[in-house]
Amino acid sequence: MKRLMTGVPDTAFMVAAWRAAESDRPDALFQDKFAHRLAGARGLDVADEAGSRAMGQWQVVIRTVIIDGLLRAAVGAGAATVLNLGAGLDARPYRLTWPAGLRWIEVDFPEVIAWKEARLQDARPSCQVQRIGLDLTDGQARRELFARIAAESPSVMALTEGVVPYLTNDAVGALADDLRRLRGARWIVDYASPESVRFSKRLRLRRPMPAAPFQFEPPDWFAFFEAHGWRAADIKYLPIEARRLGRPAPLPPWLKLALRVGGVLGPAAGLDGLRKSTGYVVLEPVSKEPV
Ligand SMILES: C[S@@+](CC[C@H](N)C(=O)[O-])C[C@H]1O[C@@H](n2cnc3c(N)ncnc32)[C@H](O)[C@@H]1O
Repeated sequence: MKRLMTGVPDTAFMVAAWRAAESDRPDALFQDKFAHRLAGARGLDVADEAGSRAMGQWQVVIRTVIIDGLLRAAVGAGAATVLNLGAGLDARPYRLTWPAGLRWIEVDFPEVIAWKEARLQDARPSCQVQRIGLDLTDGQARRELFARIAAESPSVMALTEGVVPYLTNDAVGALADDLRRLRGARWIVDYASPESVRFSKRLRLRRPMPAAPFQFEPPDWFAFFEAHGWRAADIKYLPIEARRLGRPAPLPPWLKLALRVGGVLGPAAGLDGLRKSTGYVVLEPVSKEPV
């Protein structure tokens, strides 16, 4: 019997199945040869259930390319540790080549970590990988982990790829506060403009996932992170990168037409608002001192 999505951990399997599907394409934008074994039958089932989520799949493909580039740049600039929070079944330490001494710490729910450990038992990463099973909303466990990393690592590139949407505003705020305790930290995080969130809800561009609802909806994205001590150092917009990669969003024809006519994102947004509707932001601390 097919397994349906029952909770947030299933989303890790869904996106791994999407990376596997991308890797099988003749015009693939990346090769993830671990994605099939990591996704397994559970990934195929939940991705199949999500069949009409073409926008979600497109986003995952484009973001993979964007974040590969952002991480390469961060490590090239001297980041000693990558801290991948809600790492799911991401295989970057295996499918990409990194300096052998780079520390790569992955955190996710214990069940996801256990599956990943078992599936990658015989694979060799190019850097030093450590995995930790932990609920990111467990404040005490999270702060203990970050305190240990702060003591051991002079510069950290934190990543939450497709993770903060599943957390509440309060949980993201608490995570943002705690990440400020790391030394030399930057943080890659998903961005969606408030207009684009309203727009995709109104037009039902994303089929809702009742077992894994999106919860993070700050009224002003940049002001939210600024209030928690972070500001944007860099931003890569998904629609702009997708165009550069020759893989535009799979919008339904009626919507393409409506966009050509204009005004669908809201009166003030226009074409520029659409191009800058979603993306990945590299955050840096507002002040250089850790809190
Ligand atoms: C959409 S998946 C993305 C996984 C991975 N970042 C990627 O892009 O392949 C969201 C991930 O966040 C993890 N996650 C969400 N909330 C979490 C929490 N409170 N604690 C630990 N992991 C969490 C899920 O288990 C899942 O692996």
